[in-house]
Amino acid sequence: MTPVGIDAVEIWSGKLKLDLPNTFAPEKGDDPAKYTKGLGLTDSSFPDVYEDIVTMAANAAKRLMDREGLTPADVGRIDVATESAFDHSKPVSTYVAGCLESVYDGDFTHANKGERKFACVAGTQAIDDAYNWIRAGRNRGRAALVITTDTALYARGDPGEATQGAGAVAMLVDEDPSIVELSTAQGYGSKDETDFLKPNQQFPSVDGKRSMQVYLSRMREALEDYESVAGDLELTEFRYAPFHTPFPGMVRKAALLAYRHVIRDTDHETALAEDIGRQPREPDFEDREAYEAAIRDYMDELKTTEPYQHWYDDTVEPTLGLSRSVGNWYTSSVHVARVSALRDAIARDDALVGDTLLVASYGSGAQAEIHAETVCEGWRTGIEALDIDAQLDARYDLSWSEYEDVHDVHEYDKDLGRDVEAFTVPDGEFVFTGWGRMNERTYEYVE
Ligand code: HMG
Repeated sequence: MTPVGIDAVEIWSGKLKLDLPNTFAPEKGDDPAKYTKGLGLTDSSFPDVYEDIVTMAANAAKRLMDREGLTPADVGRIDVATESAFDHSKPVSTYVAGCLESVYDGDFTHANKGERKFACVAGTQAIDDAYNWIRAGRNRGRAALVITTDTALYARGDPGEATQGAGAVAMLVDEDPSIVELSTAQGYGSKDETDFLKPNQQFPSVDGKRSMQVYLSRMREALEDYESVAGDLELTEFRYAPFHTPFPGMVRKAALLAYRHVIRDTDHETALAEDIGRQPREPDFEDREAYEAAIRDYMDELKTTEPYQHWYDDTVEPTLGLSRSVGNWYTSSVHVARVSALRDAIARDDALVGDTLLVASYGSGAQAEIHAETVCEGWRTGIEALDIDAQLDARYDLSWSEYEDVHDVHEYDKDLGRDVEAFTVPDGEFVFTGWGRMNERTYEYVE
């Protein structure tokens, strides 16, 4: 079977930055370490007044098309995944296609366009759709453009405010990919949950603590489902494990749970038993409560062991590099984690070709998905081409009052703050220009 996977990737960060330990924490009266150590974040990316989900998506896509030398005729499908859409009918992909058509010869008239919604897991679902379209032989030799884009904003004062972010990732899904080949095997964990949702409202209603429990439960189910098709996982099987990363502290919890699951009934568990005992088994306990308390104690011990720390530092920690500086990009988050992992391999001068990633996506509401990816020959060139460090360095560092103003600008129901001046100057990019006669949003390309 011809391999199918991600052939090219581009990232676009919101052009502003909110410094969590130095700007956010003092305003909240919090210890900065709550953000840097507890949540694991230093900054969040924020959209400037002329940026939104369309500009970020179109800018990421244009960079990708320019770098790959693509024209609209090469693209048979544009899927945008977002949970920040401003229209219940017209998909963001049509806006993005319109932007791109204004700067390229040719058009996307014969490309299938859509929008995927399932909180943060929608990006991975859009990749799935592209994969299936190609595998079904319906692509006529063309590639799919999959774009994840979100302005992940919370209401002012919500505990989630510390985990905001804004950015887009454009990915080209194609046959004989250069970056990673996708596995056919997948695992799902999916249940009707009301932990994080936006019922006809811009900012989410969130039960933060519960959302973390739901994340862990759905991930465990997805892992079990994945093992039911791919066989039991071996710890050394995967070079990196990129997770959906709402904030790095969440991934720390998920990684520990995954490790405990994978070593159960293996030589790794036996080797660790000398120091911390075997994992508690439910039948050995009188009730669920006692069992759960024992599990918590075991996990506390497990995370201090050398084998766990070694595995975590090698396999998971390197996936969190970008997330620490950008916050939660919702649908993009797991795709940013993949890029962080590959950048780590460049820093270590690791060959990586043929190595496997275990990719764990998640969306509230709630669903987790797990699959494997094999790193392809061209990965290094594709990742070295990214200029994300320069983008992050160039972000405008907001003061608290500037942050309040720009948050208002992006709140759909507030006219307040619409006159706020941009903090950065657009340069060779799409910008939001206002509203048209049917209340559609309008855009132009600024040279
Ligand atoms: P909070 O109540 O403000 O924070 O909200 P906290 O008091 O729980 O502290 C956070 C961590 O910092 C804790 O670590 C503290 O101990 C630690 P933990 O105990 O959990 O390991 N801490 C400190 N550490 C060192 N020094 C200190 C210090 N002080 C505290 N001085 C919460 C945190 C995550 C609930 C909030 O930010 C929130 O509601 N976020 C939004 C929801 C969210 O991100 N949930 C994650 C799972 S759901 C998901 O990932 C889906 C999502 O991406 C949406 C989608 O799918 O579309 C969100």
